[in-house]
Amino acid sequence: MPRKLFVTTALPYANGTLHIGHMMEYIQADIWVRFQRMQGHEVHFVCADDAHGAPIMIAADKAGKTPQQFVADIAAGRKPYLDGFHISFDNWHSTDAPENHLLAQDIYRDLKKAGLIDSRSIEQFFDPQKNMFLPDRFIKGQCPKCGAKDQYGDNCEVCGAVYNPTELISPYSALSGVTPVLRSSEHYFFRLSDPRCVEFLEAWTRQAGHLQVEVYNKIKEWLEPDETGKRQLGDWDISRDAPYFGIEIPDAPGKYFYVWLDAPIGYLASLLNHFTRRSAGDATEGARRFAAFMEDPDSEQFHFIGKDIITFHTLFWPAMLHFSGRKTPNAVFVHGFLTVNSEKMSKSRGTGLDPLKYLSLGMNAEWLRYYIAAKLNPRNEDIEFNPEDFMARVNSDLVGKYINIASRAAGFISKRFGGKLGAVADDGAALLQLLRAGATDIASHYESRDFARALREAMLLADRVNEYVDQNKPWELAKQQGMDERLHQVCSTCIESFRLLSIYLKPVLPVLAARVEEFLQSGPLVFDDAARTLGAGHAIGEYRHLMQRVELKQLETLFEAPPAPVEQVAPPGGEDIAGTIAIDDFAKIDLRIAKIVDCQAVEGSTKLLRLTLDVGEAATRTVFSGIASAYKPEDLIGQLTVVVANLAPRKMKFGLSEGMVLAASHADEKANPGIFVLHPSAGAKPGMRVR
Ligand code: 2FM
Ligand code: ZN
Repeated sequence: MPRKLFVTTALPYANGTLHIGHMMEYIQADIWVRFQRMQGHEVHFVCADDAHGAPIMIAADKAGKTPQQFVADIAAGRKPYLDGFHISFDNWHSTDAPENHLLAQDIYRDLKKAGLIDSRSIEQFFDPQKNMFLPDRFIKGQCPKCGAKDQYGDNCEVCGAVYNPTELISPYSALSGVTPVLRSSEHYFFRLSDPRCVEFLEAWTRQAGHLQVEVYNKIKEWLEPDETGKRQLGDWDISRDAPYFGIEIPDAPGKYFYVWLDAPIGYLASLLNHFTRRSAGDATEGARRFAAFMEDPDSEQFHFIGKDIITFHTLFWPAMLHFSGRKTPNAVFVHGFLTVNSEKMSKSRGTGLDPLKYLSLGMNAEWLRYYIAAKLNPRNEDIEFNPEDFMARVNSDLVGKYINIASRAAGFISKRFGGKLGAVADDGAALLQLLRAGATDIASHYESRDFARALREAMLLADRVNEYVDQNKPWELAKQQGMDERLHQVCSTCIESFRLLSIYLKPVLPVLAARVEEFLQSGPLVFDDAARTLGAGHAIGEYRHLMQRVELKQLETLFEAPPAPVEQVAPPGGEDIAGTIAIDDFAKIDLRIAKIVDCQAVEGSTKLLRLTLDVGEAATRTVFSGIASAYKPEDLIGQLTVVVANLAPRKMKFGLSEGMVLAASHADEKANPGIFVLHPSAGAKPGMRVR
């Protein structure tokens, strides 16, 4: 019976390019998916961009884009990675898509109906200048434990302490620099501490097959009560206040779902969208097929994720699904991290091995697929990319042991035997029998994601074939009189063996396998084919070299430090150019030429000067300007300058300020002192507009 599988990888945040850590996860899932397809199963393999959340909203703002535009631009850059490494997703969607808005709101309503949503008021840091609540990452200050400066709101990178943002000494907003204030606001909670949830999660996480043992051992710490009877699993804050880029919470104006609520729902949204696309865009039919699939007791759901996001996927997500009356995942497959040259890959710092640089150097994507597969096992251990090891595995194993079998035999078949295979003698039949016997084991290693073991077994079988070649020496048989039949037998055995090995490697090397299928004229290779042979008389195609070896130079270039990125050059004037604005935005600012008719020091202020300006109006204006450190009042009297004439008047301690004089300064005034008032060229008259 063909299985019906729904498979996902974690949805990457739409605020950066993909790095080698992402590619490792996609390759792992893709190998598993391709194996399942080869078994004749129905697979729906989907992913999406994780579009929401404060960091993306803030990054978009910085880039001068709407969050939607920002996310769309990131999404547009995904294709070269996915195509380049042959990742066979059936669909790629976005958590900001309409399907996800509807599904998230539906699931929330169902959880509410189940009595599992609460609301209560909580206190949080608020940035009074940006007018928003600050996520932990955007609050900085001094570590309460070791006193290190400029530490994030949740933990100290110097001493490793973990704390609440409210414990920071001299906290400041990383967005505006101002001191945040505590403000209370109504938040919504998923009541995971409810005994029903605890009971369900205890059973779900324990059930065989759902989680790897090491994952279960980690996660059960959340569920076990401590000496005081308290569990680490508490109610989960699922709401955020506007402004927030996310999905609106029904019947809660100004409240949005926290990004981690709607992110995994994005798996379902992508599947729904996939079914709609499969139904020629007919949304009703897509929804019907989606519902049928999700309600089918025989359909199976699997998530590939990294070990940093276990709690979301093994506690919050199954609970969301179960208590909203939906099916829960059949398993969550957790992998470790990838280190490159022993350096840890972090999510934000995807340094080390740039996937697109790898491709641009003409390096074969299947080398990397093979290497990663050779290192992956079903546990969540970290794996290491080591250049020497990479070269050895690709050149000695993949090319040296496997590809070589075909290249040693194919020429004789085409030159000496008209491209047709011959009979296999008894020794050849015994070898093929040995190879064929590996199929069940290798398939079961793929099924259990023990790719390292599957490849190890395939390579051991390749060793047997190479021993057979070395014993029979076809290159010598070819020179001997009367040995034609033996040569034909030996070379045919090699080609039949090569075909079997190609079946076993196909999930890892899909492009190569397609070329092998063409060369062997075998039709698409599937695991069931291991029981058959091509047979005497079968005509194979012409052999073209199937795979190059890795060159040392390529690896050296891959890891060469890139030229100093532009970001490392100090930005002009000490700060980045602000986000792009439209001409209409600029037109809103009314800049006018002003004559400084009087200028006085301000008593009680070392910073301010009081300027009396003629802006060509009936009356003069008073403007306070923070330029006292740079100018003596008498030096400015009589000068022309530029003033923002339509700035709302501002009441200051010393009087009303009716505009703003333009002056230049470096962002870091301490290191680069000086304030420079702007002056127009001679001839400008008070009241003229600057445009
Ligand atoms: O950790 C991350 O990169 C998240 N964007 C993963 C989300 S997975 C799923 F829940 F959407
Ligand atoms: Zn510290």
